[in-house]
Amino acid sequence: LQISAELIPLVEDLDAQKVLAVQVVEEAKHVTALQRYLELLGGEIPPVNFFCKQVLEGVRATKSPAVKLLGMQLLVENLAHHLFLEIRSHVEEPVLRDLLRYIDQDEAKHVGLARNYLPRILARAGKLETAKILGYSTFWGLCLLSAGYQLKEAAESLDIDVAKGFRRVTREHRKLVSNLGWFWRLCTKVTLSDPFIEWLADTLYTRRNEPIRESRAPATSAKGDRA
Ligand SMILES: [Fe+2]
Repeated sequence: LQISAELIPLVEDLDAQKVLAVQVVEEAKHVTALQRYLELLGGEIPPVNFFCKQVLEGVRATKSPAVKLLGMQLLVENLAHHLFLEIRSHVEEPVLRDLLRYIDQDEAKHVGLARNYLPRILARAGKLETAKILGYSTFWGLCLLSAGYQLKEAAESLDIDVAKGFRRVTREHRKLVSNLGWFWRLCTKVTLSDPFIEWLADTLYTRRNEPIRESRAPATSAKGDRA
């Protein structure tokens, strides 16, 4: 909410300013709706995950429109969009499902600003600015990976496969970045190559119970065969 508001005076394009102004209102609606939902259940919005906090505070602190837009619209909004989509597909409570559907529709729109406006901003970035963007996006990418790891247990309680979700977010991220020009396409090809992402998802997020179940199954049947 605050980051979207901060972005308005930083972008020159009037249409982008209008989209961001709408985004501020939408983010305020999301917070209010989730707050009210949790209040009615007797709960409250928990504190932000440590690694997500690093990203959000970093995005807030930068004065560069390119870095702020990339961090907020490309990384955070894309992640939020997939997160709400994934949670919605694993809950049955109708009010929460409706709420998540409305919120996710907005998040998908917010990613649209990165798709449509970020290429123009990045095309104007000088060498120093580009290096800064690369540094920040790598650091924030690592923070979000760690945040996913920290939330793995909570996700598994909803039967969410974090590894699968991570592959989906990365695939979408790669599509968005391929839109930004040859330099960013090349960077993404190197840092987010398929084999690397597969390895990372398997190493970090593969569900703890899966290998145990797989290794136990043949042992049980072997005992059964012998009996
Ligand atoms: Fe958003």
